[in-house]
Amino acid sequence: MSSTMLFIVLLVITVARAAPVQDETCDVQAYRQSHCTASVFVQHGCTSATVDLIHTNFLQSCSSVRLNWAYAANNLTLIIGRQEHQAFTSDHSYLYYDPNSISNFNRFRVNHTHFDLNVDFDRHLLHGHVQFNIVRLDQKQCEYSSTIKNTENNEIPHNLDGKLILDAHQLNVEKVMYETTLLPFEINPEHNSLTIDMEQIPKEAISISIVINYSTSPDQSKALQWMTKEQTADRQYPFMYSQCQAIHARSMYPCQDTPGVKSTYTAKIICPKPLIPLMSAIQTKHDVDTNTFYFEQTVAVPSYLMAIAVGHLVSYDISDRIRVWSEPSRRERCKYEFEETECALSAAEQLLGKYQWKRYDILVLPPSFPYTGMENPCMNFISPATLVGDRSLTWVIVHELTHSWTGNLVTNENWEHFWLNEGFTTFIEAKLLEILAKDNGEARRFHSAQGWEELESTIIEFGSTNPYTCLVYRLQNVDPDDAYNSTQYHKGAALLWFLEHDIVCSEVEFDQFLRSYVQKFSHRVLNTDDFIQYFELYFPQAKKVDWKLWLNTPGMPPITINFSTELERQCRQLAKQPSLISDAQMKLLNANQIVYLFNLLLNQKPSTITYDIIKQIDKNCQMNQYSNGDICYRWYQLCIRMKYIEVLEDIFKFLGENGEMKFLKPLYTEFKLSWPEMMPKVHEFFEEHKKYIHPLLVQQIEQRIGK
Ligand code: BES
Ligand code: ZN
Repeated sequence: MSSTMLFIVLLVITVARAAPVQDETCDVQAYRQSHCTASVFVQHGCTSATVDLIHTNFLQSCSSVRLNWAYAANNLTLIIGRQEHQAFTSDHSYLYYDPNSISNFNRFRVNHTHFDLNVDFDRHLLHGHVQFNIVRLDQKQCEYSSTIKNTENNEIPHNLDGKLILDAHQLNVEKVMYETTLLPFEINPEHNSLTIDMEQIPKEAISISIVINYSTSPDQSKALQWMTKEQTADRQYPFMYSQCQAIHARSMYPCQDTPGVKSTYTAKIICPKPLIPLMSAIQTKHDVDTNTFYFEQTVAVPSYLMAIAVGHLVSYDISDRIRVWSEPSRRERCKYEFEETECALSAAEQLLGKYQWKRYDILVLPPSFPYTGMENPCMNFISPATLVGDRSLTWVIVHELTHSWTGNLVTNENWEHFWLNEGFTTFIEAKLLEILAKDNGEARRFHSAQGWEELESTIIEFGSTNPYTCLVYRLQNVDPDDAYNSTQYHKGAALLWFLEHDIVCSEVEFDQFLRSYVQKFSHRVLNTDDFIQYFELYFPQAKKVDWKLWLNTPGMPPITINFSTELERQCRQLAKQPSLISDAQMKLLNANQIVYLFNLLLNQKPSTITYDIIKQIDKNCQMNQYSNGDICYRWYQLCIRMKYIEVLEDIFKFLGENGEMKFLKPLYTEFKLSWPEMMPKVHEFFEEHKKYIHPLLVQQIEQRIGK
């Protein structure tokens, strides 16, 4: 069947159902994941043919979208014709796929959100309303919606035309209004959806505004953590913060909870005095009498970047566009730790283009914050564990601020392409460290070597055949939190390193590409195919890259990268003979080298570490002098593995004072794996302290150590 014929006649082609469903699924999957040529067997009436997907022009420009849809519907239906082809070429009509959202964003699309919310610390909930501006998308285009199930006889259903489906988790919806009309709605707890009947809205209305009155559920909202004053650092006032990434925004407000849909937003927030709210936006006004705060985000952002925190907060200005917020007792430490942030932001601008978010502020959260950092626009959320006192965790800020470009401007279409957010950010973070260190690449190479070793740890932990150690993975019926691991960061960064060094062979040209990529995809979303297509267009020599090996094969990357640095060599030397590690030698290492050394010891096979060596290192190097959490948790992991009981108290103290997922998961898991006799004590401790840990993390730890 020639491709010309495909464009002249409108064909509705259905994959032959003779093949088992599993096979059809595999076909699509193979295509989508590998970006390699794949064929599908198609049938139209009594004619059948094999169509080479990649070779039809039409599919080159929009293959992923259609195949994604097909995959979601579990029944591949392609509609091929001139008209439809054109519908895909304009930006406005771009259709997305997201296995983790039930919302029908290809039919209606939110482009502005307004929040009017009260923060109720007595009942632990937000209540008020959210107002959406929604665009009704062209009927024709909607036929490819990724989220609407196909009907039995393979016809595209039209019965959902008049329905707006939003993601909603544990929300109490009171009413939905269109102008003065009440709209009927239905909550479906099984699908975590809110379906609104839009029939009463005139069909010709393209831009629609609706208002939803609702409240979040007390203490059941996955996005919101409500803390009593005892759970904060200063123990004076209660605190509340949100963490929406990856799919928790739906428990904060009903929404199209997919990174594919971007919306500007405004907000009016009322909270009790003397608390103040901060958001991932610019504050525009404050009414002192009523303690009402107004915010505005003029850059369109996906739901996972909606963020709010409310607490007793003070601030310190690092520069005229950078302010650090924290509980009062931590203000001085913040001043010192983040002083170099302006340099980092300028370096990022030099590499990636102008910073587009007006302000870059940082909020240091209470210890229960489960991440090291979260790139909420205008207001990054950062763990208090970064306040080490020696700026050894500056790279965390560099990472989060880099997301202002890769992630927040250029966004992964759905969480299957998470590496586009994190891999790019991790790769660029290392480049920025080189600019900051002004050292001809040593800092960059060492940081990348560290990432590689992290990747080794993750692959050991997850197993080298685990599908979540692929760069791109499937998330049908999987919560992205369950797939979360560091592969997408470090294998992603390794792929970009490989492309820069072995394919493009010029850092200058590669940097030009990065700038151009950011410019092209800013304010948009993309998937892996879009990236490859753009990259191959930019660098024709990239056609020789075996993308499938990099993207769809679990385990370590297909090639081993030698970062060859002196900083790394020193650590390797010590790791070979750990019995010789002395305080003097440790003093020659910087904090990140010590982290690296411990990672080498943890990953070593066969291990050279014994109980006696651990004891010796502890005594010689006074390990209790170190306060960098990244050093401590790896050291403690080694101690647990060797059942080094002398530091047990310290380990529990560390587990009690820190709430970062990165620390808690490996330590609790190590107890379970290496020191089973200690488990009764660990369980007892965990029960006592879990009120200080983020509820989602509590669940994950319980999965690892049992209840
Ligand atoms: N966006 C991530 C955090 C995240 C990822 C939250 C997935 C929820 C789901 C953030 O940018 C990040 O990568 N944080 C890292 C630290 C960073 C310095 C590598 C973390 O918190 O471990
Ligand atoms: Zn990140």
